[in-house]
Amino acid sequence: MSSETAFTYRDGWFCCEDASLIDIAARFGTPAYVYSRAAIAARFAAYRRSLRGIPNRVCYAVKANSNIAILQLLASLGAGFDIVSGGELFRVLAAGADPATVVFSGVGKTREEIDFALARGIHSFNCESADELALLAEIAGRRNTTASVALRVNPDVDAITHPYISTGLKEHKFGIDIAVVESVYRRMARYPRLAATGVSCHIGSQLLSIAPLIEAADKMIALVARLRAAGFPIRHLDLGGGLGVSYRPTETAADIDEFISRLRPRLASDIELMLEPGRSIIAEAGILLSRVLFEKQNGSKTFVIVDAGMNDLIRPTLYHAHHEITPVEQSPLPPRIADIVGPVCETGDFFARDREIVPLAPGSLIAIRTAGAYGFVLASNYNSRPRPVELLVDGAEVHVIRRRETYDDLLRGEQLV
Ligand code: LLP
Repeated sequence: MSSETAFTYRDGWFCCEDASLIDIAARFGTPAYVYSRAAIAARFAAYRRSLRGIPNRVCYAVKANSNIAILQLLASLGAGFDIVSGGELFRVLAAGADPATVVFSGVGKTREEIDFALARGIHSFNCESADELALLAEIAGRRNTTASVALRVNPDVDAITHPYISTGLKEHKFGIDIAVVESVYRRMARYPRLAATGVSCHIGSQLLSIAPLIEAADKMIALVARLRAAGFPIRHLDLGGGLGVSYRPTETAADIDEFISRLRPRLASDIELMLEPGRSIIAEAGILLSRVLFEKQNGSKTFVIVDAGMNDLIRPTLYHAHHEITPVEQSPLPPRIADIVGPVCETGDFFARDREIVPLAPGSLIAIRTAGAYGFVLASNYNSRPRPVELLVDGAEVHVIRRRETYDDLLRGEQLV
């Protein structure tokens, strides 16, 4: 079941798999994040199918959606994990995943995080600076262990995406300049506790064109050949740049098959290809379900005020990201133009501006689409709003995978003086 078939109208009501969203709202309240198990599994399977015949490891980027039930599902399907913090490692372990499938990325790892990861025996570290290598070597020495390292290379490729999520240009903070990276590998030889076993790069997220990824791949593959010729036993190539998904009907998602089939002839048979997809696995498998509170008119503008806010889903505010909005009850009425906004006290608290949408009476439900990635993980308690419940639908069954927060949760850890 793909994400298009996971969320469909049945008898005029929008459903997730075999569960009606009106029933879900009645049982679990709103706002609620609702994920389709089948849609997640289908996306992961698409990666595995495309990669058949290539030695590979698909490390799901935990940052996209870190709920432990989602991690558990992906681990059961054979995923590894790409983490960027000790907290994400803690989650992966709590999900019962094997630490040997974990890659630790990120530009600013702390001593405690590195120590935690070494103690648990993760697969490897993607390192981004000479200082980080020195710290990793010191901690590995103290633990009497060896750390596998891939340097994260900045390949200076324009990913052609939103500037906030483009990461592979020279002016970005990420990675080590491809022009100097070989000298950093050579200097790594001074640390007997570090094993240079891989190379990695990540040029950005929501890439709708495959071309920049192939450009980066060519640079990285040439680098692997040079490093191997210089005697480094490079075993894996971690090729980052997240495939984009379709947030609006006019947008075509990057095609996994096309990407892999263009990559396949370029790869040596003895290198393991590592990918770190987050968004392309989980974005389309999730929606944010919300209820209309009021509708009001200010001058010529119509505002539909809903019970979800920018604290629940910040992508429209932060990136001016577009999310399709689907009324849960199919309506025969003609659409009109309205802003769909939340209750938070900020003008930036909106989900859609000047959107064509059918009239929505107070009490009716909407599904904010493609919200599975970078949705709940970026939610906050701003305006002292408890964060939403998260639900995983499997057929007609609905599992609570994170209960709705309570007012008591809001005060957890605080104390009067
Ligand atoms: N690996 C690394 C090192 C990354 O920096 C990222 C994303 C990923 C993997 C996963 O990329 P994906 O497959 O999800 O494109 N909050 C933003 C997205 C930030 C992505 C940052 N890095 C958004 O909502 O669009």
